[in-house]
Amino acid sequence: MPTAPTARLVVLVSGSGTNLQALLDACADPSYGASVVAVGADRDGIEGLARAERAGVPTFVHRLADHPDRAAWDAALTASVASHEPDLVVCAGFMKLVGRDFLDRFGGRVLNTHPALSPSFPGMHGPADALAYGVKVTGCTLFVVDDGVDTGPIVAQAAVEVHDDDTVDSLHERIKTAERAMLVENVGRMAREGFTITDRKVRFGR
Ligand code: GRF
Repeated sequence: MPTAPTARLVVLVSGSGTNLQALLDACADPSYGASVVAVGADRDGIEGLARAERAGVPTFVHRLADHPDRAAWDAALTASVASHEPDLVVCAGFMKLVGRDFLDRFGGRVLNTHPALSPSFPGMHGPADALAYGVKVTGCTLFVVDDGVDTGPIVAQAAVEVHDDDTVDSLHERIKTAERAMLVENVGRMAREGFTITDRKVRFGR
């Protein structure tokens, strides 16, 4: 019996890789419809890379400091990702903005997850900025990467309550629980059902 094609995911990480782990775990079920074919990082020695290695997934690292400039770093990252022929690239806690080469090659199929409800609190400090502002509800956003900072078309969002006694860490951990579920559910749907983007509206289906 013919089997449905499995979407090839390349996942980019910079840290602990719990979002990556959630994807690796989901991909272990053949009915999920996707497979992590490689994991890339912008730094060595992180738990995200160790998780990939434990799962037997090939890894690559491109440190900005090892390249003459950002464009060269971006070109090297693009080439490594391209060599794994991804259907989707998932930035899962990848703390760098990808550049022109990368978007020319993969634009429209690069996803990122942000720990705030876009368009609120873009940038590196979403949980801290939400806490400092005093919002009662924040959350996470899965979006298709464009050339802005956390500005791309939104695939999914999940709301998370802010508690009176929250610290940045406790709030971020609660957001990450929602983020992992959002990522697994929506990447799976994108892989199985396809998606379109029209006037910033992301819809499932081909
Ligand atoms: C996530 O909250 C992501 O949105 C943010 O950093 C966190 C990464 O967590 N940029 P992990 O490395 O997947 O555990």
